[in-house]
Amino acid sequence: MSAPNAHSSAPVSEMPIVAPPPEAEQIAQLFDRLRRIDGVDMRQARVVRAPLRISPLGAHIDHQLGIVTGMTIDRAILLAFVPAADGRVRMESLNFAEPASFDLADIPPATKGDWANYVRGAALALQQRHALRQGLTGVVGGSMPIGGLSSSAAVTIAYLLALEAIHDLAVDAYENVELCRFSENRYVGLNNGILDQSVILHSAQQHLTRIDCRSVEVERVPVGLDADSLRRRFEILAVYSGVSQGLVGTDYNNRVAQCRSAAEQMLAQAGLPIPADPRLRHVPEEVHVAYGAQLDAPLQRRARHFFGEMGRVRAGLEAWQAGDLVRFGELVTASGESSIRWYESGSPQLITLYETLAQTPGVYGTRFSGAGFRGNCIALIDPAYRESIAAAVHAVYPKAHPQEAAAYSIHFCRPDGRAELIPATASAMPPR
Ligand code: GLA
Repeated sequence: MSAPNAHSSAPVSEMPIVAPPPEAEQIAQLFDRLRRIDGVDMRQARVVRAPLRISPLGAHIDHQLGIVTGMTIDRAILLAFVPAADGRVRMESLNFAEPASFDLADIPPATKGDWANYVRGAALALQQRHALRQGLTGVVGGSMPIGGLSSSAAVTIAYLLALEAIHDLAVDAYENVELCRFSENRYVGLNNGILDQSVILHSAQQHLTRIDCRSVEVERVPVGLDADSLRRRFEILAVYSGVSQGLVGTDYNNRVAQCRSAAEQMLAQAGLPIPADPRLRHVPEEVHVAYGAQLDAPLQRRARHFFGEMGRVRAGLEAWQAGDLVRFGELVTASGESSIRWYESGSPQLITLYETLAQTPGVYGTRFSGAGFRGNCIALIDPAYRESIAAAVHAVYPKAHPQEAAAYSIHFCRPDGRAELIPATASAMPPR
């Protein structure tokens, strides 16, 4: 289905294309808020910037110890903070009304759907390995609607880096990956893998980050194009469906459990040893070929997605290194189809976006972003087609999903680097 031309002539100004305010302005806004909190000494104020991420290939195989890919985008979670001598954490968010406040010596358990879980989880994770003497006062914000771009990992990393900065702790990216994992798996209760935080902590411009989730090895794979060609020919589109929801309440954990059962059953059929915590990566491909068809139908589909996606990741890395954006994109779209058909993630809204983008000229490839139960659909695009691509979405989406017509939005993004403390100081900020 391609977008009807009659609609693609909608004036660009009517389309919900969102350009974020410059980051200096966002930081000034955070500093303004921070300054108003009791006892804050702005001379000690610092900022962490943790970019959001996409994963073009390797969907839902990180928790099965597969090989995945990702890159960050130029939309970030920003956290302005100061140390607090009394050992309390006080956090405000530009996106949520209720502030978070707790004592580091007595971190309460997670409560479902609470944004404060991420700061509590980060503090708890860091405390498992390092003594924390000081509390943290901060204000956090982000410019993107939540869903699929891993704002939860980005915000957890922002809290970790801030707590590490005020304690002068030298924690490397690999340890931060583990800490973030502890927070999400053990505190928040999502049985996810290490894709999100690894991409956010390791990414570099012009590179695709490759993560082997079994060995936990990370490689930054350069694109086979010069920087100028990549800038001219490659951009990332994120279309927010208008639907946000935390992953803990979705079918995410259920799918992870199905993948584990599939792994266990195939290993048993083959008479191979079964590890304490079986995952699909433990299953040799030939065992899948021999025994996959004997699994129950839903488990068969999950295994099929895993092995297909591993092949697409391998082929995609080759295409990326050769600078073949067209081939890379085809694999991304095939990955999106496998997510719908075999992994059975996706919502009606995301499927409409995927189908529309897959058939729109100028789109190299498209798929749901992240878990794909809500949030954003992403596309890798040729920037020369920006307007016609936005017009195609605008022509189809609000009609197909009128209840989301006022909430969906279109964002053109560039690849970015990793999360870090940025040298922003309150005095360097423009007056407001
Ligand atoms: C979410 C999870 C990740 C990964 C993706 C799907 O973002 O947090 O660990 O499983 O979904 O690829």
